Amino acid sequence: MDDPFPGAPFAPSSANRPASIDRRRLLQLAAAGAATLWLPRSAWSQPRIAGDPFTLGVASGSPTHDSVVLWTRLHPQGLFGSSLGLDPVTVRWEIAQDEKFSRIVQKGQSIAAAALAHSVHVEVPGLEPDRWYYYRFMVGNAESPVGRTRTFPAPGAEASRLRVAYASCQRWEHGYFSAYRHMRQDDPDVVLFLGDYIYEYPNAKNAVRVPTGGWVRTLDDYRRRYALHKSDGDLQAMHAACPWLVTWDDHEVQNDYAGQKEGNSGAPVASFAALRAAAYQAYYEHMPLRSAVLTRALDGLAKGAELRIHSTVRFGALASFYLLDDRQYRAPQACTRDGRSGSSTIDPAQCAEWADPERTLLGPAQERWLDDAFAHGSAGWNIVGQQTLFGQREFRSGPVRSLWNDGWDGYPAARARMLASMRKNMLANPVVLGGDVHQNWVGHVKADYADPRSPSIGVEFCGTSISSRADEGQVPSQLARNPHFVFADSERRGYGFVELTAKRLTTSLRVVSDVTLRDATIETLAKFSVEAGRSAIVAE
Ligand SMILES: [Fe+2]
Repeated sequence: MDDPFPGAPFAPSSANRPASIDRRRLLQLAAAGAATLWLPRSAWSQPRIAGDPFTLGVASGSPTHDSVVLWTRLHPQGLFGSSLGLDPVTVRWEIAQDEKFSRIVQKGQSIAAAALAHSVHVEVPGLEPDRWYYYRFMVGNAESPVGRTRTFPAPGAEASRLRVAYASCQRWEHGYFSAYRHMRQDDPDVVLFLGDYIYEYPNAKNAVRVPTGGWVRTLDDYRRRYALHKSDGDLQAMHAACPWLVTWDDHEVQNDYAGQKEGNSGAPVASFAALRAAAYQAYYEHMPLRSAVLTRALDGLAKGAELRIHSTVRFGALASFYLLDDRQYRAPQACTRDGRSGSSTIDPAQCAEWADPERTLLGPAQERWLDDAFAHGSAGWNIVGQQTLFGQREFRSGPVRSLWNDGWDGYPAARARMLASMRKNMLANPVVLGGDVHQNWVGHVKADYADPRSPSIGVEFCGTSISSRADEGQVPSQLARNPHFVFADSERRGYGFVELTAKRLTTSLRVVSDVTLRDATIETLAKFSVEAGRSAIVAE
């Protein structure tokens, strides 16, 4: 194939070093997935790399019925450094129908650019629907581990079964990620990661494992924190086992941040816009995302960078996924006491701002997008992957109310609009999945949480954390005050596992024996089923 980028900045001329090339062009090319990038062999950089360049493993994600993103990041020098310098590096890739790569269906080469931390995002097109594939990367003589991924069934095509694991909140120093070792044995079709992939904190008291490092405040800090997490063997193996659909919460940037408003962890920063832009770039660099998410990340990163990560994808006629972003576009939390964003319990009677119909959690554009997506929803199951507890949780009984202002309870008008959209569009079998609270919550999605007699229009499973500690103790009494929830537990860490057929959904709450042990065992804490067409949760 002819070189489609004559004069592209990758000719090995010393006058054309990346430092002197157009940054936007470089990022565009590197982010383009490179499935279509073909340059003369001589133009590709093949530096000698000391050590294994694939220490962070491989991953795949953003699957559709005919395409998937393959990811890796070259990182040859342990956790806290890179020996790659500024030169772009050629990475070859192959995707095959079999683990031994005797039936390769596509191969190509991609650019790992220093401007994107030598990450690689290959968007492989033209795959067959509803089948598993194997992939690997090569640099020089080095080969990556083999990853396994899959496409989804074509929209409308019959699909007999879907298995989804959902997970969130993996604070490194709070424990081991052994939950992923067990998740891998459960063999999901896809992992839904619902936020707090990293935390920006320095080391914790009673840390289970070290080192975390200091406060995360710069692009390099974020990159190091992702590299730390991705050094975990169980996490790497789960990424290599199936595609992931990912969204974020606050800690990928800063605790409790809201839109463009700074959060409240650590000392104030000189420019929150710059911090957020650095965090978003590092997120893109480390996740198997399509380059289309880089809406405004390529232009002036410090001037309001945007990463458009909300998305929808169909799994045949059986299900649709809606991945939401409730951090990037939200209004500030209501009645926070100091000038920075922050979460607390509030009494709505003392907070007029709380009920302001203009306040938004998803932002107007994402709300419109979601309403349109619901209008074209699946006739099967509609799985909403979002960050946090969806249903109303009253912390106290009695006349003085107490609600958490950082989640949906802090944005009642926004929740009411989403519920109204589900009803208006007659969304079939809504299943809301969440994280954030480090507790398992299972409940019915109510048409109106202010009216206990209002109908259930869906079900909710809010998952516990992979490792992050929880506030324990009060959950049983909260359950009694909020009867739309049928189960809650704050003691155990783990993940959720959902199996769907056209007729039935079952969710198992999988919990590890002890998050402080690398070889923790697994058990099912509770199991629930839902019949299609009935928004009623039955304990198994
Ligand atoms: Fe968390």
